[in-house]
Amino acid sequence: MLAVSGSLRAGSANTGLVRMAERLAPAGLAVTVRDGIDLLPYYNADLDTPATLPEVCAAWRDDVSAADALFLAVPEYNWGPSGVIKNAIDWLTRPAGEYAIRGKVISIVTSAGRSGGSHVQAPLVEILGLLGNTMVMEPAIMVAVGAERISSDGTTTDPEIEALVRARLDAIVAALTQPS
Ligand code: FNR
Repeated sequence: MLAVSGSLRAGSANTGLVRMAERLAPAGLAVTVRDGIDLLPYYNADLDTPATLPEVCAAWRDDVSAADALFLAVPEYNWGPSGVIKNAIDWLTRPAGEYAIRGKVISIVTSAGRSGGSHVQAPLVEILGLLGNTMVMEPAIMVAVGAERISSDGTTTDPEIEALVRARLDAIVAALTQPS
């Protein structure tokens, strides 16, 4: 499973959630933290041709194609997902019909301001589900003012957050091992 943070901030709580998932990964679930989505150019169809596709975009698509699952930790900016994660997802949704982000188990967690990220989760669940993925969203993880409780190194002062992340990882394993 690839774990990706939608925040570029050095002290990011969402990066902390990604590192927490890596640290707490149960037996049988290999979690790889995937950095570098900030190096992707803004999506531009003129770049998206075999002759012009940037290497970073091809590598991002290849990494996601090879993964069975994605764990996305996304901050809420102005009632929506951060631009950097939206752009990274846009790169994964082309070429039409053979795009990288389909047939995956996808799990979204959010740490935001007072909302906890509720305005991020609903639209991402809708669009990623429509693209042909299995969304694993229980138990709900919407951490309000998470930066006060979650460090970017993946530690937290709140044991309940660790318990929720453990339970979510177990739910991801169950979805991955379910017969299709
Ligand atoms: C925010 N924040 C925020 N929080 C929220 O609950 N609802 C919102 O609409 C917004 N909007 C917003 C816009 C912008 C431009 C910024 C910079 C921040 C707060 C934000 O989600 C919070 O600081 C998160 O903790 C950021 O995540 P990281 O960097 O800790 O991972």
